[in-house]
Amino acid sequence: MLDIILKRRSIREFSDKEIAKSDLLDLVKCGFMAPSARAQESRDFVIIDDKEILNKLSEVSIGAKVLARAKAAIAVICPNVDSLTTPDMALEDLAAATENILLAATSKQIGSCWIGIAPNDERIEKASKILNLDNVSFVFSLIALGYPLSDDAFYIKDKVKENLIYWNKVE
Ligand SMILES: Cc1cc2nc3c(=O)[nH]c(=O)nc-3n(C[C@H](O)[C@H](O)[C@H](O)COP(=O)(O)O)c2cc1C
Repeated sequence: MLDIILKRRSIREFSDKEIAKSDLLDLVKCGFMAPSARAQESRDFVIIDDKEILNKLSEVSIGAKVLARAKAAIAVICPNVDSLTTPDMALEDLAAATENILLAATSKQIGSCWIGIAPNDERIEKASKILNLDNVSFVFSLIALGYPLSDDAFYIKDKVKENLIYWNKVE
């Protein structure tokens, strides 16, 4: 598992190989398995494998262009916050689910890239409309998916900053 975390990278160039539906469902299951505040059900998921919808989503922001090259995507959705026990922690729940999916994808050799949507109102509105969401739920993030074009797309890059690690108190 440590190896999966260390070699996860944002992958933005994909091969033609399709992702099996069963694998996409496995990724979503891993999204549900992420922690959430007071175990609230603060996440829905939309699996997108329709090229036309991927193309529309790729127009949501400059950073979303990668979706036009992706074989599939998963939208992490915040349901109606009025239904939640701890709505002020919903964004943390949604981020945890997004990261779980990135790691699960890496474990299956599937490339992934987190496309930031929330808290940008314009992106939320555009993406939520494309996915036909009602006015009370919204897209938190999009995850572009596909098998990497390059064989060495997963690699370990040292991002650890030793000087930012403290023990017991900040000095
Ligand atoms: C909240 C968030 C939003 C992001 N949005 C985008 C995006 O819109 N487009 C994109 O290509 N990458 C996006 N990324 C991926 C980052 O650019 C990437 O994680 C960062 O450059 C570090 O590279 P690494 O993921 O390979 O470690 C986002 C990442 C996070 C956590």
